[in-house]
Amino acid sequence: MSSHSKILILDFGSQVTQLIARRVREAGVFSEVFPYDVSNEFVRDYGAAGIILSGGPNSVTEGDTPRAPQAVFELGVPVLGICYGMQTMAAQLGGKVENGKVREFGYAEVRARGHTALLNGISDFVTDEGHGMLKVWMSHGDKVNEMPPGFKLMASTESCPIAGMADEERRLYAVQFHPEVTHTQQGKAMISRFVHEICGCKSDWNMPDYIAEAMEAIRAQVGDDEVILGLSGGVDSSVAAALIHRAIGDQLTCVFVDHGLLRLDEGTMVMNMFGKNLGVKVIHVDATEQFMGHLAGVTDPEAKRKIIGREFVEVFQAQAGKLKSAKWLAQGTIYPDVIESAGKGKKTAHTIKSHHNVGGLPETLNLKLLEPLRELFKDEVRELGVALGLPHDMVYRHPFPGPGLGVRILGEVKKEYADLLRRADAIFIEELRAAKDEEGKSWYDKTSQAFTVFLPVKSVGVMGDGRTYEYVVALRAVQTQDFMTAHWAHLPHELLGRVSNRIINEVRGINRVVYDISGKPPATIEWE
Ligand code: XMP
Repeated sequence: MSSHSKILILDFGSQVTQLIARRVREAGVFSEVFPYDVSNEFVRDYGAAGIILSGGPNSVTEGDTPRAPQAVFELGVPVLGICYGMQTMAAQLGGKVENGKVREFGYAEVRARGHTALLNGISDFVTDEGHGMLKVWMSHGDKVNEMPPGFKLMASTESCPIAGMADEERRLYAVQFHPEVTHTQQGKAMISRFVHEICGCKSDWNMPDYIAEAMEAIRAQVGDDEVILGLSGGVDSSVAAALIHRAIGDQLTCVFVDHGLLRLDEGTMVMNMFGKNLGVKVIHVDATEQFMGHLAGVTDPEAKRKIIGREFVEVFQAQAGKLKSAKWLAQGTIYPDVIESAGKGKKTAHTIKSHHNVGGLPETLNLKLLEPLRELFKDEVRELGVALGLPHDMVYRHPFPGPGLGVRILGEVKKEYADLLRRADAIFIEELRAAKDEEGKSWYDKTSQAFTVFLPVKSVGVMGDGRTYEYVVALRAVQTQDFMTAHWAHLPHELLGRVSNRIINEVRGINRVVYDISGKPPATIEWE
């Protein structure tokens, strides 16, 4: 992405470093995250229009803790230090940091000071004395208690008198609070101010333009070689396939492995969309019997996952082996996978750009990796998918786990169970899509993930004049930002009632529907 102006983010291990990159990109400026311990040479050669130092869990007052490469402060480009980034900036430039006696977490009101280029004119409210105030998110133990020479006060709170500092001549800015989190109400305005006004970046990062660049990059990378891609029906592999096909047409062959644990009509949908509509070469492998055979009698969730993963690789490898001319394996690796696999705030400077085979396919395939989405966040992948003409509903689908219904059928997996579950789940999803709130937003879009779980127990019911003795399904719907923690969704009772009625009436074999009201933690989102 050398043609764009770009912001370099150095990660000191904060949980929210990725958010800094996302906020910068939302401001229309390309940005990337690298570990804090990149070399001075790397910092000089990177070509950043500005640098942001993230927060982190360490204390600069304790011995051998992370420091930014000194080149960061000598390059002459603007720097913004956030939280730990501010503390290390202070320590490295001759100020003092005090080990916090009072810790401050959560909401705080900060007074903006000194009319700096970063905060001037940005405020949430003005006090009776005429002070501009910011509503921010603080999370720190340590604080700066003496600014380095040349710095002036930019922000303060009662418990943190130096909550922001700036050396405007050298264009070095630092804040103790977190502008990257949405709780800091003017955070977006501050980031935009930093990258546009202070660093002078243009807003030149957008998906429609990115398509042309990405196509060119793919062509340059693969030349006349052939490429294979494992299509799962998920968002990432679908968008990767559409993009690569746009770039190199028939040089791409997709392999779609149906393990028999996909959702209702998913196989047909994928084949229609890619094969018929987009004209992509897709090999459809129906491996249902092979998977079911290996899963027979297995009840342990981790054993099931391993079998599904292993068989998937085997089927894919067999297909790939037939495509003798293929030199490249394309994967839908996205930027969060790249950052995560490099490890947070660890000394991993030299591995972050190397190719991580996050998809788990073996190196024995002897194929080079093509990962055209590895610079993009999930929301950017979705925008790209829409820009490439993929259907909105497909691109904004809830996540679906690789082992598919295999982890949503408790205990032993049987084809009979999968067939019942598919039909029940399709009804649930259809009703979620149809139910809209006052603003016209569907409950499907209001939840992060929703699905049905098959419980292999029978309960007694009555239908018409007859007694029934049939299976139970559980409905699961959660709301979450990051899938690490989640709340169960408070779906309207009428909606739950409608789903239950329809499943029991339409899916013979199921006579009871229950709703899962467990949060994560302590429960997980999936049942297995
Ligand atoms: P849990 O159940 O751990 O799920 O709360 C968190 C998110 O991860 C998805 N998930 C998986 N995805 N392979 C996957 O590709 C798996 O084995 C797997 N297990 C869970 C889950 O659907 C949710 O989005």
